Amino acid sequence: MLQCLMEAADHAGRLAERLGVPLRLIDVHRFPDGELKVTVGEAAATTMLYMPLDAPNDKLVTLLFAAEALRRGGARRLVLVAPYLCYMRQDAAFHPGEAISQKVVGPLLARTFDRVVTVDAHLHRTHKIRDVFPGIEAEDLSAMPAVAEALHGTLDPRTVVVGPDEESAPWVGDLAGRLGLAHTVGRKSRAGDRAVAIAFTEAGQLKGRPVLLVDDIVSSGGTLVTCAKALAAADAASIDCVITHALFAPAMMREFERAGIRSLRSTTSVPHPTNAIRLDGLLAAALRKETAA
Ligand code: R5P
Repeated sequence: MLQCLMEAADHAGRLAERLGVPLRLIDVHRFPDGELKVTVGEAAATTMLYMPLDAPNDKLVTLLFAAEALRRGGARRLVLVAPYLCYMRQDAAFHPGEAISQKVVGPLLARTFDRVVTVDAHLHRTHKIRDVFPGIEAEDLSAMPAVAEALHGTLDPRTVVVGPDEESAPWVGDLAGRLGLAHTVGRKSRAGDRAVAIAFTEAGQLKGRPVLLVDDIVSSGGTLVTCAKALAAADAASIDCVITHALFAPAMMREFERAGIRSLRSTTSVPHPTNAIRLDGLLAAALRKETAA
């Protein structure tokens, strides 16, 4: 049994179909004072909750309430399928007094669920997903096999796979290897939520060549715009983007175009108009064991 919010019903429906399990919708009512009332479908002994955690503050509360209702309804095993996992980027106190949100959200979900399955979690200073979720099963799946499958045979062989910063090196290298292409990453410094600077030390390698720009998350869009401008300054022939988690306002697409980005495709981790790369195959393979009983 899989349960989800209406907004994710398409993606969750394809996953439920692959797994051969029924899909039930979770209803959320918002009271005038902002409180939420959550109503789940009938619980199964093993119930999977499919919930991308964009709009994180509402979704986290929804998850906790849904889990309470499902446990009380008889669910013995609760599996959280969160293709996008929120609050992973604040994994350290970067300035005195800052809370480390990852250290709060991880244990909270670990107390609520028996297993968490996610995709391209933003793990840098905490290297292992199991360290985020103490004491439970947890898997962080890479979207790159699905991205490579979708792009296979569609790219100019001179294409360079590019990441905006050193943190992107693992998935950029992985995707480039799968596609048999060259790759490089920029050096990024961030001065604020929307203020980033990006430089390419090997800019000569980009001159006249098509670029496939890859990132895990696009939120404000500042990183992508700055990176596209740096690539245009390095005389890249064209810039196409592929990202895992599309969190940005769709109106940003006009700004991406102005920065020289020709196309942008995202995975289905978060419902978004740019969704083009399906993750249901990847998720179904990881979740198959939940349907065995
Ligand atoms: C940063 O470490 C991430 O990999 C993304 O590059 C970043 O989160 C993008 O954020 P924004 O779109 O707000 O620049």
